[in-house]
Amino acid sequence: MRRAVCPGSYDPPTNGHLDILERAAGLFDEVTVAVLVNQNKKGLFTVEERLSLLAEAMSHLPNVRVDSWHGLLVDYCRQHDIQAIVKGLRAVSDFDYELQMAQMNQQLTGVETLFMPTKPENSFLSSSLVKEVATYGGDVRHLLSDKVHQRLVERLARNG
Ligand code: PNS
Repeated sequence: MRRAVCPGSYDPPTNGHLDILERAAGLFDEVTVAVLVNQNKKGLFTVEERLSLLAEAMSHLPNVRVDSWHGLLVDYCRQHDIQAIVKGLRAVSDFDYELQMAQMNQQLTGVETLFMPTKPENSFLSSSLVKEVATYGGDVRHLLSDKVHQRLVERLARNG
């Protein structure tokens, strides 16, 4: 069984994330979307909300599961017998830090990291930019699934 994990904050998941997840699901027997909990970062969405948005967006792919994790990614991989970490790369600017993490993870437990280039139309896309643009009234509907967009608009309206 070839297993991969796609880790991230997913606050919220964007179309760029969903594209990488779908493409990874075509390459591995099982793909886990892991929402990594970062104690120092207060998210716009709770981890449970992100899991629910991801589960709904991935419900058409039977080999994708969603989970959350608090701790080292390599420990999650070891516990779940996952051999590969798949990361989307948008631009060269992503590369330095991603390379550093990939090498650290490889050195820690031998887990491999595979970089998947994002589609060009998603190369500028990030959850944080989407949130910023939406906060000031910009239209981000085309960058998110309908459900994620709806939830984002509701959340920002509630937060005032
Ligand atoms: O979506 P993000 O915020 O860019 O994802 C970064 C993430 C969560 C994948 C990365 O910070 C991570 O792997 N965190 C888990 C903790 C860990 O293993 N840290 C050591 C990395 S070498």
